[in-house]
Amino acid sequence: MLYFTVYKIMFEALKESIVTIITNKSIDKDLRLQQICELLKESIPHYDWVGFYFKNGDKPELKLGPYAGAPTDHIIIPFGKGICGQVAVSNQNFVVPDVKAQDNYIACSITVKAEIVIPLFVNGENVGQIDIDSNTPDPFTEEDERFLEFINKEVAKIL
Ligand code: SME
Repeated sequence: MLYFTVYKIMFEALKESIVTIITNKSIDKDLRLQQICELLKESIPHYDWVGFYFKNGDKPELKLGPYAGAPTDHIIIPFGKGICGQVAVSNQNFVVPDVKAQDNYIACSITVKAEIVIPLFVNGENVGQIDIDSNTPDPFTEEDERFLEFINKEVAKIL
């Protein structure tokens, strides 16, 4: 119970910082997204890699945008491939408590145990997503989903 309360308070505090970053017109959009990734990775113990993927022009694929964490080889992900590619076509949140239990999964690092991907909509169109990898098994709750949905709505305002 205490665990959930602490996380709720932390997410509420972080939401204010996210709005401050989003509304900072003195830096460009990508730098603001970069700051969001770094803030999340540094503040939330179970967020070990945080990044945005966006639809790559008219192609049926995602392209890596700003991120925080270890560099990944997966700069381009075709629609349908991996957790990210599945979210690009399903338009649904995808919470993976155990990546080893997934057939259609693209491994970025052997330390990753769990993943969450939340689609990002602009005017109802799925234009990308926020992707979080965790080295902690089964760490994500509905609070993470609501928090990340909030972030994507804020990000949509500057895309
Ligand atoms: N694991 C993802 C690939 C992206 S990396 O996590 C950065 C997937 O299965 O789509």
